[in-house]
Amino acid sequence: MTAASESVINTLAQESRGFTAAEWNQLNALTDSNFTSSVLRQQFSLEGLRRSGTFFTGAAWSDRLWTLVRPTLGSHAVVVDPACGAGDLLTPGIALLQRDHVEATFHVNDLQREWASIASSRLRIASGGAITVRESNGDFLSDSDSVAHATHVLLNPPYVPVLAQTSWAQGRVNAAALFVHRALGAMPEASHLFAILPDVLRSGSRYAKWRREVELLGGTQAVIPLGQFDADTDVHVFLLHVVVGAPSSVAWTPAFEMQSQRRTVGEMCDVRVGPVVPHRTPETGPEVPYVTARSLTSGTSLVRRFDGRTHLGPLVLLNRTSRPGQRPRLRARLYTSSTPLAVENHLIVLTPRDQTLSACEELLEILDSRTSCEYIDSQIACRHLTVGSVKGIPWTT
Ligand SMILES: C[S@@+](CC[C@H](N)C(=O)[O-])C[C@H]1O[C@@H](n2cnc3c(N)ncnc32)[C@H](O)[C@@H]1O
Repeated sequence: MTAASESVINTLAQESRGFTAAEWNQLNALTDSNFTSSVLRQQFSLEGLRRSGTFFTGAAWSDRLWTLVRPTLGSHAVVVDPACGAGDLLTPGIALLQRDHVEATFHVNDLQREWASIASSRLRIASGGAITVRESNGDFLSDSDSVAHATHVLLNPPYVPVLAQTSWAQGRVNAAALFVHRALGAMPEASHLFAILPDVLRSGSRYAKWRREVELLGGTQAVIPLGQFDADTDVHVFLLHVVVGAPSSVAWTPAFEMQSQRRTVGEMCDVRVGPVVPHRTPETGPEVPYVTARSLTSGTSLVRRFDGRTHLGPLVLLNRTSRPGQRPRLRARLYTSSTPLAVENHLIVLTPRDQTLSACEELLEILDSRTSCEYIDSQIACRHLTVGSVKGIPWTT
């Protein structure tokens, strides 16, 4: 055990001195993830925690998760967190399980032995020994035995990019997608997975295959966008509940109330991501006007050599970077020239099928409308718009 983790355990143990377990439950200090997070963040550098994707779930989200877990509990539960960190995801469960007289075993696993032992010490102290806590350490992505006998798996995995070679993804993939897939594949029939995951898995087009894979293994029971993970972690997350082997009962994105006319931006326009990848696309071919997200904002004119797909105006350029809650959420500009234009991949190009200026002007109004903002907010909480989400915008202001 490292000096840092020993010091964390000591701090937690010192804090508990003088109180009985029952008093601790009342005071809620050992189960207060905000308190623990701040202790841990004093001991470990935020930079190091970020690099390894180690972020502890705050009380708001873990309490929310347990309100979904509670109605699914029987008289006996085996609750596993395969990437447990300091155990923050499990702590709110202690009081609930005791109140509901559920005979429970917790199993905590982490790649780092220190975290598994911090989590198990903390859970043992906080439950006054009333809950059996098992502990293991290992790479869950290569050994998922810890979930083989689970009734419930609670998961907030690392969100770091990793290289993968699977049937549903090749190349860099968010580790969270691999954790969920791995867990569902190893969990028993009818067991429950509750996970806090980055929103890109719910709304990103590159995770469409992953979503289909998940539904081959289990049924979605809840898909709830939560908002930003916490004040220090600028990632939007959602809560996923899946039951292994069951049919799905909820969609990944909410159905949007369409107005009377059912046309969408995708039906009215050709929608594509700009083809130029800065620093990667070769500067060969004829010189053409070039637009980037930045030059569009500053009004700077650029020219570059490019022999790939160019676009002719009139068309509309839309910033792909778009934060949930930001207003205007959809930042779009008109391009009227019929000179072939090279477009950076941080922009989405929308060309009305009738290629008229008036359709472009109508489109700008549509993208600026409240309906479109609300539609996009309901469909996508990560910071990059997808072509699919833009195509689905109702053609109405
Ligand atoms: C985002 S933290 C979440 C911790 C905890 N579940 C919570 O919600 O507070 C992710 C944890 O996963 C652990 N981890 C990273 N890669 C892992 C792997 N391959 N197998 C098991 N644990 C891993 C990290 O050490 C870290 O403690």
